[in-house]
Amino acid sequence: MTADGAYREDGEGRIRVLMKTEESFEPPPEFVAQANASDPGIYERANEDPEAWWGSWAEKLEWIEPFDEILDWSDPPFAKWFGGGKLNVSANCLDRHVEAGNGDRVAYYWEGEDGTRKELTYAWLHTETQKFANALKGLGIGKGDVVGIYMPMIPEAPVAMLACTRIGAIHNVVFGGFSAGSVVERMQFSEAKALITADATMRRGKPTPMKASIDGTLDHVESLEHVIVVNRGDSDPPMTEGRDHFWHDLVDAADPECPPEPMDAEDPLFILYTSGSTAKPKGIQHTTGGYLTGVSATHKLVFDLKDDDIYWCAADIGWITGHSYIVYGPLANGATSVMYEGAPNFPAEDRWWEIVERYGVTIMYTAPTAIRACMKWGVEHTQKHDLSSIRLLGSVGEPINPRAWLWYSENIGGGRCPVVDTWWQTETGAIMISPLPGLTTTKPGSATVPLPGIEAKIFDEDGNEVEEGAGLLVLTRPWPSMARTLYKEPERFVETYWSRFGNDVYLVGDAARIDEDGYFWIVGRTDDVINVSGHRLSTMEVESALVSAEGVAEAAVIGVPDEDTGQAIFAFVTPEGGVEGGDELEAKLRDHVADKIGKLARPKHMAFADDLPKTRSGKIMRRLLRDIAAGNELGDVSTLRDPEVVKDLQEQVKE
Ligand code: WT7
Repeated sequence: MTADGAYREDGEGRIRVLMKTEESFEPPPEFVAQANASDPGIYERANEDPEAWWGSWAEKLEWIEPFDEILDWSDPPFAKWFGGGKLNVSANCLDRHVEAGNGDRVAYYWEGEDGTRKELTYAWLHTETQKFANALKGLGIGKGDVVGIYMPMIPEAPVAMLACTRIGAIHNVVFGGFSAGSVVERMQFSEAKALITADATMRRGKPTPMKASIDGTLDHVESLEHVIVVNRGDSDPPMTEGRDHFWHDLVDAADPECPPEPMDAEDPLFILYTSGSTAKPKGIQHTTGGYLTGVSATHKLVFDLKDDDIYWCAADIGWITGHSYIVYGPLANGATSVMYEGAPNFPAEDRWWEIVERYGVTIMYTAPTAIRACMKWGVEHTQKHDLSSIRLLGSVGEPINPRAWLWYSENIGGGRCPVVDTWWQTETGAIMISPLPGLTTTKPGSATVPLPGIEAKIFDEDGNEVEEGAGLLVLTRPWPSMARTLYKEPERFVETYWSRFGNDVYLVGDAARIDEDGYFWIVGRTDDVINVSGHRLSTMEVESALVSAEGVAEAAVIGVPDEDTGQAIFAFVTPEGGVEGGDELEAKLRDHVADKIGKLARPKHMAFADDLPKTRSGKIMRRLLRDIAAGNELGDVSTLRDPEVVKDLQEQVKE
């Protein structure tokens, strides 16, 4: 379906795997009896009048000035939601809970990897956010300025985000696992004025330098005036006089009161860079009113949130999942969450389950990759702990294979919990396709049906709707938490998402299949994006990292199915003349990619050849690379410029 049939091979393979189970699961009656959403009529009502539906959710927020128009869709794809309304996100996440007398309520049970435990109440978050907001103001940062955040999973991370929203600064969080190069690039693209980071991040019991790892490259960010450093590891980071400040120095000196800045519903809230089809990441831009409406509504409905729940989303704040379902959705709803800093298998493979037991976690949200890792480590680790508090399980980030779904349901959920497989993206801001746990019959491997108010369809190449079968997933109606643009690249926004089938049809970039019951089965990306452990990487980004290494003439990168990480990166590399391909070069290149992008982008497989399979016009045949990687019969290769290189590569793959 794409130019080179990107998803056909592993795509169809995956559909077969996904369809293997015929089982389906009704919501358990005890769950239905208490569910937030138990009236099937909500689908019909929301779909008849989606604006009224979203308007009713927006009204549950606290507005400084009420909105006078729910949706303005007169200039697609540039939607305006809740026009005329003014609100502040931090006030919705903090002040209103404190004012309602819930200041002592725990917002996060924070657990450090080293065993440190803290109960962060709404009152504490409220005060720290205001102090830090004043600290930012004191540095001359205000409404509309971009602030980078490159931090571990520590209490200061949500405080930093909330403080930005308090004063109307736009945060730009970069996942802590990305390397200096990725951080700097994202700071440059967004012209960040300040960057908040930490001296170190705890990894498997050891502080790993964070500030020092980026320090040398920060000079390349011309717009950067201030760097604020949290002391997490007592590691004495390099500090540049005048530019760099310790978090604690600023906060200790700051006034504890900072009134929330009234923001227009359509004012930008944050940008978050994500990988696209080119080497340049896309700055997905979300806005204030629509985003908060979308995440609070979906968090309440999909996770069936109740006052006494202990909710745990085991993602990282650096991804959209962390933004929407660790920070903004849960805090807007006044939830009590668990936030864990470290690795799931440190000091041992039962760490997560120890956490579940300690805090009595009731709702757990994680990614298929993590579930598969737990399966591999063995069920005995889960059995050491009492997991009976859990009542609902969620999955996100990549298609979940039925075996992992069933394992999760049986071993973590004890066979009594609904499983919600939630499909969405950085661009959609909030969950789009997912079961409602008290209403939807689930089929392992399917994200089931669009949420009330959301309209999803499958289109064929020509834009005809496919009633049953596979094709391109599209969203055919605007929704409040939709991305508004790509930061400083509105044309690219229109071109990437809103041009294929007209400017009012959102092209998702995923292939999917719709079955006879109208259930959606996500197959995978149709663009040059690889999904490794639920993390999005572009083939072009990895290729350009590889060719920037010494001794590399050319590189082509594809995603291959992987039983642990969903997809893995396979790199085909042509060394420069005189340079030997082999284990040594492979190790060097893996380090180089880790350096350029981050460890998560390191190719798992590599093969070397004097040339790559190309057409006579010189285009790399990725489809053929995919067949080679899969060990498939190749058929006719006579159109290749040099059919010999294929044999060479095939032999290496066999090894
Ligand atoms: C891509 C978006 C959504 C937060 C984490 C990833 C894939 C996401 C599912 C799911 C099958 C899924 C899609 C999507 N994806 N959730 N439940 N089933 N695939 O956000 O980095 O923006 O990636 O992740 O391919 O397009 P992201």
